Amino acid sequence: MSDKFRIIGGGRLLGEVHVGGAKNSVLKLMAATLLAEGTFTISNVPDIADVEIMSDLLTRMGCTVTHTGSAVSITVPAAPLHRADYDLVRKMRASINVLGPLVARVGEAEVALPGGDAIGPRPLDLHIRGLEALGATAKIEHGFVVAKAPNGLTGARIDLDFPSVGATENVMTAAVLAKGTTVIDNAAREPDVVDVGEFLNAMGAKISGLGTSTITIEGVEKLHPADHATLPDRIIAGTWAFAAAITQGDITVRGANPDHLEIPFEKLTSAGAIITTAEDGFRVRMESRAHAVDVATLPYPGFPTDLQPMIIAMNATADGNSIVTENVFEGRFMFVNELGRLGADIHVEGHHASIKGVTQLSGAPVVATDIRAGVGLVLAGLVADGETIVEDAFHIDRGFPGFAEALCALGANVERI
Ligand code: UD1
Repeated sequence: MSDKFRIIGGGRLLGEVHVGGAKNSVLKLMAATLLAEGTFTISNVPDIADVEIMSDLLTRMGCTVTHTGSAVSITVPAAPLHRADYDLVRKMRASINVLGPLVARVGEAEVALPGGDAIGPRPLDLHIRGLEALGATAKIEHGFVVAKAPNGLTGARIDLDFPSVGATENVMTAAVLAKGTTVIDNAAREPDVVDVGEFLNAMGAKISGLGTSTITIEGVEKLHPADHATLPDRIIAGTWAFAAAITQGDITVRGANPDHLEIPFEKLTSAGAIITTAEDGFRVRMESRAHAVDVATLPYPGFPTDLQPMIIAMNATADGNSIVTENVFEGRFMFVNELGRLGADIHVEGHHASIKGVTQLSGAPVVATDIRAGVGLVLAGLVADGETIVEDAFHIDRGFPGFAEALCALGANVERI
């Protein structure tokens, strides 16, 4: 993993990139294997640090994990251990996804309270209330979520206050082995949730309504191993689309599903980008300076919070003023101060950022506070005058495989230090 990215700004990004499997899907697919004994193969696995961390976590629970190219094979024992320790969990939010499978299969789970990105408070109340509704006891004790269901889980109707991705996944992966029917109302509709649900169905689960706000799960007694290809990473695909727009470039993105990027594409089109479909992906061209566009982040199918730093980076050098509203994670504007170091003119009030587009950013040292913020800063550095150093770039490697190399292949002047 790299410490710093050094970027010399200038030039359009031109060429082709290939997008691999989604971080936010593969980690949950790996966690879901705990639901059945036997050997699973997951393909289209991205080469990122978080996959290593999840592999270590599963290994510690008694699984055998082997990587072959972009596939991971996981052999789950008859009785996995039910504890996920802090030293691993602190590194990655998605560790919490072992909670539902463990309670359902082993009848108990102790999962350290997760770490992950510095993007504001990330409570677990919806996960806990969901498991309680299924008949588990769940509480926070000595820094662990401790959940128990010694007599198994029972299906229930669960109305989520917010369509949380993680809570929907944890409840769904627990309910697949519950007695009777579970209905999750106000469920998350993210493609990552659909991918996990389809994997569970391939394992013998009975889930319907995936991709809608109401997911229905008929509990089954037992699941069996299955093989599955991870869905393409829509956030990385979307990042390349913004990279083309910001640098007035022309990028063809392969291995991507444009259907998952409808709203980001609407925003890019309003900014002046020309987006067309291409074989196994799409092409984004920008022939002049972007027009500033307003946007509000929302759960899927709304504009993804994970692309918010990228649209702020675009608006920072766009023609005109814009307002970006963050509705999902309150701490996500932390990186705006860093963008200010590059000369961006942004004023944050509450969950709104008012941005005055400037004609030219100027290179400076900045610090990545999380994966997406780090990527947003790199995109801004690509059009800043002179040298930009993005420190703490290991965050970027957690979620974006080969980012620096792919940028170089498109003509950027970027190196890892
Ligand atoms: C996942 C993604 C993250 C993405 C986010 C929203 C992973 C590993 N991460 O995070 O990249 O930005 O979805 O698309 O997949 N909330 C509660 N109580 C809870 C759970 C969540 O109040 O029990 C709140 C959160 O604080 C946040 C909002 O709900 O404000 C959305 O969080 P959630 O959808 O759960 O995000 P994650 O699953 O953590």
